[in-house]
Amino acid sequence: MKKKIILIGMMGSGKTTIGKKLAKILNLDFIDTDKIIEKDCKIKINKIFEKFGESFFRKKEEKVVLKLLSKKKSSVMALGGGAFLNKKVQKKIIKENVSIWLDVSLEAIYKRCKGSNQRPLLNKKNNSNLKKTIKELMQIRKPIYSKAKFVIKTNKSATEVCKKILFSIKNII
Ligand code: S3P
Repeated sequence: MKKKIILIGMMGSGKTTIGKKLAKILNLDFIDTDKIIEKDCKIKINKIFEKFGESFFRKKEEKVVLKLLSKKKSSVMALGGGAFLNKKVQKKIIKENVSIWLDVSLEAIYKRCKGSNQRPLLNKKNNSNLKKTIKELMQIRKPIYSKAKFVIKTNKSATEVCKKILFSIKNII
């Protein structure tokens, strides 16, 4: 298999947890694009937003993700929630790789994100607006995420989600 398996979806949709598990099952490397950006910049994502702003982060994200996508080795990749909105990234993923959208309900995302202070797009609003903020982001992003090759509803355990993914991709890997 030469293709990469790219997990896309909202913050808190389980891309990292599921990605790690899937990579282990398939005996592939696991890559978390946010972790590479943090390593490159030597600071956490929320600090990048705080110090340099979102547009700086997006430019860095585009550069890092395109570079990772151009590597020959196959892997399982967890993409930061906004990276697939970038046209160049989107095009490359759709053309050359296997994209999987982890489609999680608003309620589940809200529950997973409400205690976190590591998510700059959600932290900048006060908590009473958190659900509304997530809902608005989801409304904008759903049509874009739905361009992924596979859509997996992930209200089940990570093991069940991995099984579903493996079943979906069995003919192309
Ligand atoms: C973002 C998601 C985050 C991170 C950054 C922006 C987004 O990654 O890249 O905070 O725009 O949805 P996760 O989806 O891994 O939380």
